[in-house]
Amino acid sequence: MHTPGNNLRVAAHTAGISFMLFLSACSLPGGGKSEVAAGSKDVVAGGAEGTIIYERHCMMCHSMAPPPAAAPPVKGVALHYREAFDSREEAVRHMVAFMKSPDPDEAVCDREAIERFGLMPAMKLSDDELKTVSAWFWDQYDPSMRQMHRKERARMQQEH
Ligand code: HEC
Repeated sequence: MHTPGNNLRVAAHTAGISFMLFLSACSLPGGGKSEVAAGSKDVVAGGAEGTIIYERHCMMCHSMAPPPAAAPPVKGVALHYREAFDSREEAVRHMVAFMKSPDPDEAVCDREAIERFGLMPAMKLSDDELKTVSAWFWDQYDPSMRQMHRKERARMQQEH
């Protein structure tokens, strides 16, 4: 017998599972590996879409890794956001708000970044695009960046 109620239950069940996967991926600090393991279709699609938005709207200023182009490299930004926020969700919320109207008082990156590169211009993208690209930035975290960043920071301080 066809019961719409059943379909609903199945849908709710599936959504529950992906929600749990999402939560567990987020609650592990620095858990890049588990995020990949949790890699549902949505995450993969978001990744590809994030790359496209990055290449179209961010890459001209943000290189992936040092040397920087006209802004802190993506991996450096990801590192700062991992240090400042416990969850991907919170980080994404902050990054989206920052990109809509960049404010030096709200910047997570070092003060030197703004002194060196100036303030980032506001991004005129849809909320969905901003969320996707912010999550993508967060996902680019690379633990080996810590050391690279320390060196870069020391070099910047010497310049001043
Ligand atoms: C015209 C150059 C330019 C473009 C294009 C650009 N940015 Fe930036 N961005 C900057 C500069 C400069 C900074 C460092 C100063 C600052 O924090 O405003 C920065 C900083 C940031 C930060 C760190 C903010 C913080 O909390 O400290 C994030 C996140 C960021 N950019 C994301 C993006 C994303 C995502 C895109 C593409 C949608 C993008 N940027 C496009 C120049 C740019």
